[in-house]
Amino acid sequence: MKKILVVHGPNLGLLGKREPQVYGTVTLKQINQSLEKLAKIKRVKLTIKQSNHEGEIVDLIGKGKAKFEGLLINPAAYTHTSVAIRDAISASLIPAVEVHLSNIYSREEFRHKSLISPVAKGTVIGFGAKSYTLGLEALIDLLDVK
Ligand code: DQA
Repeated sequence: MKKILVVHGPNLGLLGKREPQVYGTVTLKQINQSLEKLAKIKRVKLTIKQSNHEGEIVDLIGKGKAKFEGLLINPAAYTHTSVAIRDAISASLIPAVEVHLSNIYSREEFRHKSLISPVAKGTVIGFGAKSYTLGLEALIDLLDVK
């Protein structure tokens, strides 16, 4: 059974209450439940983590390279700032799919740049909670093809 690491970056634990006009009202728990449901159908095993700390995310990815075949990540605010997370993904050689709930290109200019996209296999942006399940499905397809 293929193993996939799911990483939610900073402040995503607040989903549901956090700026619902931007991120919707779905909670992180509900997102994780829909990911688990899809994982069961597709017969993959998920390990899901949320962290507000850049170094912890770097460690999760670094340690994960021996354990996981794929990475689904919403780096949240670190998308726009973290060379360290980008380098961790790049060094891990694990195929990564980047997801965002909101369309970062239709928001403030500082969100228009993702440092992560160049090292991701692909990105799913702007479909709210659905970005995650679309991203997971794409990642699983990618792993099946390999
Ligand atoms: C986000 C977009 C980021 O710009 C923001 O900092 C987040 C969430 C999204 O999923 O839309 O925290 O990654």
